[in-house]
Amino acid sequence: MGIPHELKKALRDACSLAKEAIAQEKRILVVTHNDADGLSAGGIIHKAFLREGYQVHTRSVKQLDRDVLKEISKSKAGLVIFSDLGAGVLDDIQELFNCDIIILDHHQPVECEHELVHVNPHNVGIDGSREISSSGVAYLFAKEMNRENQELAGIAIVGAIGDMQDSTGELIGLNKIIQKDGEEAKVLRVEKDLRLYGRQTRPLFKAIEYTTEPFIPGLSGSESASLQFLSDLDIPIKKNDEFTKLADLSEEEKKRLTTALILRMIEHRIPPKIAESIVGDVFTLIKEDKRTPLRDAKEYATLLNACGKYEKNGLGIAVVLGDRDQAYKEALEMLKDHKSYICSCYRWVSENVSKIKDEEVVYSFHAKDEINDSVLGAVISMVLNSRTLEEIKPIIAFAYDKNGKVKVSARATRELVEQGVNLGKAMHFASEKVGGEGGGHNIAAGASITIGDEEEFLKYAKEEIRRQLNAE
Ligand code: C5P
Ligand code: C5P
Repeated sequence: MGIPHELKKALRDACSLAKEAIAQEKRILVVTHNDADGLSAGGIIHKAFLREGYQVHTRSVKQLDRDVLKEISKSKAGLVIFSDLGAGVLDDIQELFNCDIIILDHHQPVECEHELVHVNPHNVGIDGSREISSSGVAYLFAKEMNRENQELAGIAIVGAIGDMQDSTGELIGLNKIIQKDGEEAKVLRVEKDLRLYGRQTRPLFKAIEYTTEPFIPGLSGSESASLQFLSDLDIPIKKNDEFTKLADLSEEEKKRLTTALILRMIEHRIPPKIAESIVGDVFTLIKEDKRTPLRDAKEYATLLNACGKYEKNGLGIAVVLGDRDQAYKEALEMLKDHKSYICSCYRWVSENVSKIKDEEVVYSFHAKDEINDSVLGAVISMVLNSRTLEEIKPIIAFAYDKNGKVKVSARATRELVEQGVNLGKAMHFASEKVGGEGGGHNIAAGASITIGDEEEFLKYAKEEIRRQLNAE
């Protein structure tokens, strides 16, 4: 499979507009999402302009609501490039901006008439939650600008992995094409291994504790259980006075560990296909220093997510742009706390399962101030994937954010999506009903609503999900 003709055309249109802006020396503003995929995408676009000898301003935002859009529209830029966001607010962008616009996104677009240059896999029938992320779209745009940008394919893969597009154990579709570009440009090495988190840097027991995709019941999120598990398998915690890492295992030890992990998952109702995805492709950024978190795409993505989630967005972009000094050191500090914080939130939910209400077509709970709203999605992914809830239904969770609003995160499984569930559409529908903003992907979506509207929102989200399931 190659890049579809219509997508190539949209990329060419975007590229012409960008080159025209350079020729006319227009002020260019790149606005990107503050998660791993968005920060990777922003970095790729920024670098593509730098290669042309042109300086742009890049900033990242948590979400693109009407207030943020209004503020951006006053920026005096001649060209605004939105990346990893925009598809959900095409109508607002069309209405509020007078300058040139390029949108490089992979979220499901809202239906509306517009004349914007909008590069999006969904526009050509490609699933943007699986086959290409925004950093991939940004990469294709950068490559259209200049073939030499092929060296940015590695960071495009970091974004895709940040969005969990490798959850089956390998990348597919356009991501695979980008992967091959990365291998050809000698920036990326892909090999089959245990897909444990922090393969290069973490002691094995920590790598097991921090692996949440696939979720290993009883071990994911628990240091003591992971230590006990290794001890039961006769795998030493230390070798030569140093904590054992994955790379230190003998072939026989690795086989023993793999079998035990798969068995553990299957015993806890994880479907065999998902359990087996614990072995799959792992992605090494070979130009990065050995034994640093940036060498492994999954850990690199977590570092960027950590910067974004703690609203230190500038740090993440700086790292993607090549800072290995102050910004990188600060980002490493963010990374330190990030995984352990998510695990502690997961433990909080596990200890408060009674707060999760069975709402017929969905499960739902309100975390209030117990979970930082920016990691709510990651935490409910763990709850869903742990298969501890009786039935397989989407989870819709609420938490208060720092701006006095309610953040909604929703997650489904691939099976539910195959049955017709589309959470992006449900979040959009329910948000519109209560005057909030929401959207996303079929499998993972979110919204922002006013405090007090939670019950009403849930009613409409359920109504839409019921319709989606009955329509099949
Ligand atoms: O904003 P954005 O598109 O970058 O975020 C996508 C979200 O969807 C991420 O939080 C990612 O973890 C989530 N996701 C998921 N399960 C998948 C694919 C994506 O929870 N299979
Ligand atoms: O924040 P969370 O990880 O739950 O977001 C899941 C997906 O929903 C992401 O792709 C995000 O960009 C999208 N989303 C959205 N509008 C919102 C909140 C989240 O499109 N208001």
